Amino acid sequence: MPVLVAPSILAADFARLAEAAQAVEDTADWLHVDMMDNHFVPNLTIGLPVVQSLLKATKLPLDCHLMIDEPKRWAPAYAEAGALNVTFHAEATEDPAGVARDIRAAGALAGLAIKPGTPLDPYLDVLTECDTLLVMTVEPGFGGQSFRAEVLPKIRAARRLVQTGHLQLRIEVDGGIDADTIAQAAEAGADVFVAGSAVYGAEDPGRAVTSLREQAVRAGPAGN
Ligand code: DX5
Ligand code: ZN
Repeated sequence: MPVLVAPSILAADFARLAEAAQAVEDTADWLHVDMMDNHFVPNLTIGLPVVQSLLKATKLPLDCHLMIDEPKRWAPAYAEAGALNVTFHAEATEDPAGVARDIRAAGALAGLAIKPGTPLDPYLDVLTECDTLLVMTVEPGFGGQSFRAEVLPKIRAARRLVQTGHLQLRIEVDGGIDADTIAQAAEAGADVFVAGSAVYGAEDPGRAVTSLREQAVRAGPAGN
């Protein structure tokens, strides 16, 4: 499966989101949009109305990352609106399999996100109902944090489960992904790379995306 790069607009100017999308439209694969509710994480960002406007403003598929409580209540609306992938947090719901099923039924890919300290094992059954596994490589809530290398074994374990046919999904990493860290995540087996500061902090965001993808492809497991 080809490597995908998903710039996170959390690092862009929120008053110029359409321009931020356009800046990466020719080079990015997905556009990553972070929803935060000030409950699940101690930060507040945007919600459905902004996603609906973004869908009209860009042809890039939207990768919605819900860092919110009660995903069962809120997640399907992002799928109905037209997001490609809707990811919710395992830690935020008692019924992750139900949420994944609801997202798929509403027409999107379903993603399960886990924080750095959350193990993979309790979610192996749920992951059979998911299309993406988002392994957080920082604590969710803020951009610009440092990549946490202690998460690499969890990425390797997930990649092994895909290689052995136990799971069929993409493995996405989010947090602190930049020119210095992307190779480690790719080598461990990630194949979708979210990058906020490394893209929108660059002089040319479009070129930053291309260069990150090249690094990930070089470092990734052969045939991945
Ligand atoms: C953080 C968000 C990330 C954030 C990553 O909780 O989920 O998507 O934008 O930002 P960087 O790439 O700057 O770490
Ligand atoms: Zn995110």
